Amino acid sequence: MDDRSRYLWLKLLTILGPTVFVAGGELFRTIYLRHHFSPPVVSAIAVGTTLVGAVVFSWYVFRAIEHIEQERRSYKEALLSLQERERIAREMHDGIAQNLAVLKLEMYKLREGLKRFDQAALMRTSDEIESLINQTYLEVRQTLYDLRASQRLHEGFWPTVERQLAEFERISGVATRFEPLRPPRELWNELASIQILRIIQEALANVRRHAQARQVTLACRLEGHTVRFVVADDGQGFQVDNQGSLGSDHYGLQVMRERAEAIGGHLDVESVPRKGTTVTLTFPVSQRSAENG
Ligand SMILES: Nc1ncnc2c1ncn2[C@@H]1O[C@H](COP(=O)(O)OP(=O)(O)OP(=O)(O)O)[C@@H](O)[C@H]1O
Ligand SMILES: [Mg+2]
Repeated sequence: MDDRSRYLWLKLLTILGPTVFVAGGELFRTIYLRHHFSPPVVSAIAVGTTLVGAVVFSWYVFRAIEHIEQERRSYKEALLSLQERERIAREMHDGIAQNLAVLKLEMYKLREGLKRFDQAALMRTSDEIESLINQTYLEVRQTLYDLRASQRLHEGFWPTVERQLAEFERISGVATRFEPLRPPRELWNELASIQILRIIQEALANVRRHAQARQVTLACRLEGHTVRFVVADDGQGFQVDNQGSLGSDHYGLQVMRERAEAIGGHLDVESVPRKGTTVTLTFPVSQRSAENG
């Protein structure tokens, strides 16, 4: 049964179940019980069966709802991991395969330059080749680092985030600032940690690829029962309104939004051309854990 049919079945059961139960009980009382038992016993049987019926009914309905929610969550997780694979494939295609294709072309130019002993052209081409090799190397290093980072989460969330920023700074050359306020990790579960880390990674990847920023700041705050992660850069910014017109080749922000929703939160992107971009992830934490924290 799919989710829709399950919900329909639950709806019918919730609407008709109690009515049929009460009407059936009343009928049974009139036709049978009243003629075989004394009125106090009939009342006791009626109260007892109503109580048991109500408990069994509520237990069944809640279990069914939990089951549907559980399946939905597993489906969402599987979908996110599939999307992740797609992204890796795309990253390899855009960052690595395309660079290799251009490198092939550059090698052709290099050979032509050699044939003509054209020293200026040779210097130009070899500079281009060096820059492409550098870019590809950095892409591969960052992609591999990002993939491994979530496996290191058991060493601690904040140390992992700190290392991620340090590695980003080394690879991209963009200075990083990590605001020292760190709410306790126990406020959210481990699955949320992975989602948060992936959101930070994608926000940083966007800074590296698009922002031309000098600095990026990561801050995290606990405000009441809400946790807020902010990644802000001082780069060239972009028109957030134009997102819809970018076409189907830009999944990063979309996947970040889905990840935020998967932990019950949401993502806001604010950007001012020539001033920078701020990506904010907000999600609720339970009252108890916020108070303990
Ligand atoms: N920090 C940023 N600074 C400047 N422009 C940005 C920034 N983040 C996003 N953008 C712009 O928003 C666009 C969409 O970003 P998004 O992450 O969705 O796609 P993408 O980075 O182009 O591709 P990918 O699917 O590989 O992430 C980018 O192409 C870029 O123009
Ligand atoms: Mg992106």
